Amino acid sequence: MQFTTFFTALLAATASVVAAPTPTPTPTPLKSPQELIVFNPPITSPKSSSAWAKGSEQIVEWEITNIPESRVNSTGTIVLGYSASENGNEHLDIAHPLATDFPIKQGFMKVVMPKNIAERNDYFIVRK
Ligand SMILES: *[C@@H]1O[C@H](CO)[C@@H](O)[C@H](O)[C@H]1NC(C)=O
Repeated sequence: MQFTTFFTALLAATASVVAAPTPTPTPTPLKSPQELIVFNPPITSPKSSSAWAKGSEQIVEWEITNIPESRVNSTGTIVLGYSASENGNEHLDIAHPLATDFPIKQGFMKVVMPKNIAERNDYFIVRK
């Protein structure tokens, strides 16, 4: 698994909590042409203030303009994580992705928030 190409958006797990501000993404430095093309389409939904009820259906959306030709047929994965303070660990739940193998150029994907998830206000999603 590569974690260099992810882009995150924060969301809350319940309507009763307020999410932390969305971190400002660091721009990917320009690389020489022979290096891997890294493509991080911004997630446009959810916003950092989003609250997802357990077991609810949600739509994740991202920008599809400027998809490089080499990635136009790529598929993606959506994983839930939470930021928790210690060691910058992102607690990505790679074993239980919310969605896999969808075409990135689709621009959106339906996911279902797990029913048995702990309430937190620092969840985020990663679309790879
Ligand atoms: C993407 O898929 C289309 C349709 O199958 C194909 O024509 C095109 O060559 C593919 N592009 C790449 C970069 O693989």
